[in-house]
Amino acid sequence: ELRRLLGAGWSAELERDVPHAWLRHGDLVLLSEDSFRAEPWHRLGSALWETVASALGARRVARRGRVMPDGMRTPRVTLLLGQHGWVEHVDNGIRYTFDVTKCMFSPGNITEKLRVASLPCTGEVLVDLYAGIGYFTLPFLVHAGAAFVHACEWNSHAVEALHRSLVLNGVRDRCRIHSGDSRQVSGAAGLRDRPPEWQSWAEGTAARIQGLLAELHGRPWRSSVLHVEAVKSYAPRVHHLVLDLECRPVLP
Ligand SMILES: C[S@@+](CC[C@H](N)C(=O)[O-])C[C@H]1O[C@@H](n2cnc3c(N)ncnc32)[C@H](O)[C@@H]1O
Repeated sequence: ELRRLLGAGWSAELERDVPHAWLRHGDLVLLSEDSFRAEPWHRLGSALWETVASALGARRVARRGRVMPDGMRTPRVTLLLGQHGWVEHVDNGIRYTFDVTKCMFSPGNITEKLRVASLPCTGEVLVDLYAGIGYFTLPFLVHAGAAFVHACEWNSHAVEALHRSLVLNGVRDRCRIHSGDSRQVSGAAGLRDRPPEWQSWAEGTAARIQGLLAELHGRPWRSSVLHVEAVKSYAPRVHHLVLDLECRPVLP
């Protein structure tokens, strides 16, 4: 079909310009940066993109440029056929929606997304400091059983996409989006001001030791938590902690 469109203008150089691979996001195909760059293609105008779309069974066509070095991973994507760049991509049973001209979807992250989805996070409250369109936030909520995720993101287009995907996957009520610089929003949102992470564990441990001492000595003891030092984490839910506990017998 492309040969027919170009007629006598067809050449080996043009053939090399025809892509052999592309990304498909629903009804939109995303072509690589080096596709259809030669000048004769331009003369075909929209007929070229309609032909490409019909050959690939798509309705919209876009072409990738380089990701901009702006800290927001903004892609340089040009929409060549179609009215808008919003797409839906289903990955490991999760529906991601985003505007391909504004946000990046990285299929290369799939192994990490699968690993995150399989982590045992039941009941955990998580913070995703660089949430993007939810590559990790969504698997945490949909598959890993997280109770709640605080998702920080400063790219407003990614925030919009994340919001829509949370709704699509029915987990909007378990995520708070902190829109802005994660170095500031996490503090502003009270994430740093919450009770110390190990407080309830320390208090429970203190109560158990107090009970053991009372049983051993046959009279009441009191205990108070002086300090908790989180030394390191070996794995999810496996931590090395030091608890400074003051224990004294209750004087008659
Ligand atoms: C490479 S993407 C990573 C997205 C996802 N976590 C992943 O690994 O696929 C990094 C994201 O962090 C955001 N980002 C970078 N610095 C940030 C900051 N200081 N505060 C909030 N978001 C930030 C960018 O806009 C981008 O969406």
